[in-house]
Amino acid sequence: MSKKNIRAIDALQEAQKIAFAPFVFQTTVSLKKLGVFDFIFNNNTNGGVTLSEIASQLTLSEYSLSVLLEIAESADIVSLDNEGKYELTKIGYFLSYNPMTEVNLNFTHDVCYQGLFHLQEAIKEEKPAGLKELGHWKTIYEGLSQLDPHIQKSWFEFDHFYSDGIFEDALKIVFKHKPKLLFDIGGNTGKFAIQCCDYNKNVNVHIFDLPGQLKKALANTAEKGFGERVSGTEIDWLSKNPQIPMGADTIWMSQFLDCFSKEEILKILKVAANAMDNDTELIIIETYTDRQKFANAKFTLEATSLYFTALANGNSKMYKATELLALAQEAGLNIKEDISLGEFHTLFVCKKK
Ligand SMILES: C[S@@+](CC[C@H](N)C(=O)[O-])C[C@H]1O[C@@H](n2cnc3c(N)ncnc32)[C@H](O)[C@@H]1O
Repeated sequence: MSKKNIRAIDALQEAQKIAFAPFVFQTTVSLKKLGVFDFIFNNNTNGGVTLSEIASQLTLSEYSLSVLLEIAESADIVSLDNEGKYELTKIGYFLSYNPMTEVNLNFTHDVCYQGLFHLQEAIKEEKPAGLKELGHWKTIYEGLSQLDPHIQKSWFEFDHFYSDGIFEDALKIVFKHKPKLLFDIGGNTGKFAIQCCDYNKNVNVHIFDLPGQLKKALANTAEKGFGERVSGTEIDWLSKNPQIPMGADTIWMSQFLDCFSKEEILKILKVAANAMDNDTELIIIETYTDRQKFANAKFTLEATSLYFTALANGNSKMYKATELLALAQEAGLNIKEDISLGEFHTLFVCKKK
């Protein structure tokens, strides 16, 4: 939207959308969970449905539905015709059925909503002041395995949505180098380790993660029959002197470095570089704000940065590729390949200088 040309009345309307954004958000969540969006959409082809039809079908009062649908109409989520019939708009359709919007909405509602209330404090102190709404840990990563099940589900669905799709393409790049031993740094639930073992029968994977996640990852990989080929070591990269051994053909860091501040990333990359010889490949996959094709993806990443600030650790964010490239250079690494993966991701293959 042009900064100069917007009319004052339109700017005022936009400002109210922001002032009341939580109202529209909670309305959307309610309409979705109460089944109103599904019901309206299923009747779109019949020319829409009236308030009283929706109310009686979903056993809600007309009063309750009216407060939700009135603001939903002003927010262009539903439309209302002259006969009093509601239909789902394109925005309403995406809010109901677009998978990316669904994981973003659930993540916002279940993981972030209450914690974001403490954003100002988090900004001032560079501490995840909102995390206390979920549990009492220093960072969210310590508590991931202990989150309430519905919160954990939304966290993992958000995390996996932005990585699952690219693992298949990434495997082809990883295995060009024919690794026999791969270190998965921040192996999380073991998903990538399982895919590596499925993809190539000669590879062994060693996962490094915090204790709770490592336990989960090793249980998952053993359950898939890869107990012999997947091992692990507990590590806390925020501890005084974290180390990983030499010996890996490939070191894999997927959506891992964004969990840390620039100073911490530099430290991690130096530790990794120390554990590499001239043949070792370090593969870094991230979603960078300066590499997005679409404004909605950039916006999602900027919102994710605020989750890091308010809830995750207080000092990390989604970075620009230029920032990561500078840190890799400083840590003694050269970028051998720079590949765009899927809709959002970039993969760097790094070698020791
Ligand atoms: C966003 S997840 C990424 C998971 C996975 N690699 C993927 O691509 O989906 C970040 C991972 O880093 C781990 N992690 C975060 N902080 C850590 C720390 N201080 N020490 C060790 N691991 C950490 C988390 O436990 C989690 O498994």
